[in-house]
Amino acid sequence: MTTSPLAELSTHVADLIARIEQALTLADLLVDEPFIVGKRSILSTLQKSLGALAPEERKDAGARLQDARRGIEEAFAVRRALLEEEARAEQLEADRLDLGDVVISQVLAPLSVGHPGIVAATQRQLEDVFVAMGFNVSDGPEVESDWYNFEALNIPPAHPARGMWDTFYVDLGEPETVVLRTHTSPTQIHLMEQAVAQDALPIHSVMPGRCYRRDTPDARHLATFHQIEGLVVDRGISFADLAGVIETFTHAYFGADISSRLRPAFFPFTEPSAEFEITCTICRGDGCRTCSQTGWIELGGCGMLDPAVFEAVGIDGDEWSGFAFGFGIDRCAQMRHQIADMRALIDNDVRFLRQFS
Ligand code: DAH
Repeated sequence: MTTSPLAELSTHVADLIARIEQALTLADLLVDEPFIVGKRSILSTLQKSLGALAPEERKDAGARLQDARRGIEEAFAVRRALLEEEARAEQLEADRLDLGDVVISQVLAPLSVGHPGIVAATQRQLEDVFVAMGFNVSDGPEVESDWYNFEALNIPPAHPARGMWDTFYVDLGEPETVVLRTHTSPTQIHLMEQAVAQDALPIHSVMPGRCYRRDTPDARHLATFHQIEGLVVDRGISFADLAGVIETFTHAYFGADISSRLRPAFFPFTEPSAEFEITCTICRGDGCRTCSQTGWIELGGCGMLDPAVFEAVGIDGDEWSGFAFGFGIDRCAQMRHQIADMRALIDNDVRFLRQFS
C-alpha cells in the first residue's frame, strides 16, 4: 500500500509556519517567499504528486492541500503586513530631521546672510535718535497730488520756487495733477490735516521716506533718494526750540565733536527759513575739498511754519506755532561713513555693501 503524499502535511504546515515566524525582516521574508508559498514550496511539490492518486482520493487530498495552502498564504500575508509596517516606521525614523541635532552654523556657514542696506540702517538710526527726543515716526504716500506736494506748502502753480524741485509728473490730467513726491514735506500736510480732523494737536513727528527728482545722478545726488522730515506743532514753540533740536540731533547722530549751524535761506513753507549745516565729517572742520574749504556741509532745510501753511490745513496760527525741518538720509549715510560717491548706495555692489554689515 502506498502512503499518501499528504501523510506529512501537518508537519510541513508546521515547518512553513515556523519559517514564516522566523523571518525577522521584510527582506528575509521576501527572499523565502518562493519556498513558502511559491513554486519551490513543498506545497507545490505535493500538488504535483496528487496526479498519481486515484481520482476519488485526489479530490479529498486536493481539498486538504488547498486548505493548507490557504492557511499558509494567510500567515504569510499577516507576517508580511507586520514586517512592512515595521520597515516603514524604521524608514520614517531614519528620515526624521531633528533640528535640535543640526548645528545651525554648519548649515549656514556656506551661505552669506543678508543685512539691512546702509540707507535702511541709517534711517533706523535716525528714527531712534528722534524717538529718544520724544518724536513719533509717521509715514506718507510717495505718490502725491500737486496740492500736497506743492500748493498746501505755499508753492502755487506759477510760483518760481517750483524750479527748486525737478518733478516727475505721473499724471498731468484734470482735475488733479499727480506727482512722485519731490520731498517728504507733503507728509507734514497729511499729519496736520489728520490732527485737525481728530482734534489731536500737538504734533511731534518725524517722517522718513523715499523721494524722487528728475536729477541726473552724480556724486552728491540721486534721482531716487530718502529724506526725513520733522514737524513740531505746539503752543509757544520758538526758533530756539528748532535750533536746539537740530543741535541735539547732530551731536547724537554724528558725535560730540560735530556741531550744527543755521544760515538764512528761503523755503516757501517756512518763515523764517534756514539751511542747516554740520561740521564737515571728513576734515572735522579744518577745510577740505568735500566742504569746499569751509569746514561745513549742508544737510537740510528748516524754519518756523509759515502762516499760509497753517491756513491751508486749518490750524489757528494765533494759538499754535511750530517748526519743520527736512534733510537727506542718504546724505547722512554718506557723511557718517565718508562715502565719496553717493551712487555707490544704489549700485548693489556686494563688495561695497558688505562693509556695512
Ligand atoms: N523740503 C525741502 C527740500 O526738500 C527741505 C525742507 C526745508 C524741509 C525746510 C522743511 C523745511 O521741513 O522747513 O528741499
